[in-house]
Amino acid sequence: MENTKIIFNKTPQMEKIRSAEASQEDAEKLAACLNTWGEDDSWGGSFGSTKFTTKGVFSEWLEQSKMIDQMLLIDDDEVKAYCSIDNHWDDKDAAYIPLLGARPKEQGKGYGKALLLEALRRCIKLGKRRLDLYTWPGNIKAVPLYKKTGYMWVYKTSVLMQNYLPAILSTSLFKPFFCQE
Ligand SMILES: CC(C)(COP(=O)(O)OP(=O)(O)OC[C@H]1O[C@@H](n2cnc3c(N)ncnc32)[C@H](O)[C@@H]1OP(=O)(O)O)[C@@H](O)C(=O)NCCC(=O)NCCS
Repeated sequence: MENTKIIFNKTPQMEKIRSAEASQEDAEKLAACLNTWGEDDSWGGSFGSTKFTTKGVFSEWLEQSKMIDQMLLIDDDEVKAYCSIDNHWDDKDAAYIPLLGARPKEQGKGYGKALLLEALRRCIKLGKRRLDLYTWPGNIKAVPLYKKTGYMWVYKTSVLMQNYLPAILSTSLFKPFFCQE
């Protein structure tokens, strides 16, 4: 069983994902993406008032980052969507998604789903048992997608969602079913 791998087929959109590097090029691409997030009401006003610069994104987002990963989905040489993964604040066996977003004009093309699945794959590889994120109740673009990718709305929260697939897929009892040589 040691030489087995969990079957996790990659979708074509997942092939366009790579980790961000602390480089001017990635900072410029990520800033351009973040500057689109205020173009519609996707974020309810949380984005739009700040103009992201290459310099600021480089120093505050990439160079100083202590997060597990920051993933960029790149298509046509542009960052179409972004997703970060961090250590969980009170559970060393879990990870946490602080931020996920796609350019408003590029939503509905499978980018957000690809990033969520890739985050799950990377968490399983790191030996994490659970992946959490926060959203808000009326986020009708995100909540159905989260449910489709294995997240459950924690009762009486507004809204913490938890995904136990990493633990389920890694449990030794289920390995013969989920693994291949
Ligand atoms: C949430 C967000 C990241 C999703 O990314 P996206 O690229 O638009 O989403 P995708 O195209 O990858 O996937 C959408 C999925 O949700 C499904 N979906 C969307 N609305 C749905 C609904 N009302 N009912 C059922 N399914 C729905 C789609 O069918 C699709 O699933 P499928 O691929 O299995 O058919 C993106 O819409 C976004 O950036 N929103 C604004 C910011 C935001 O809310 N971020 C999350 C904060 S917690």
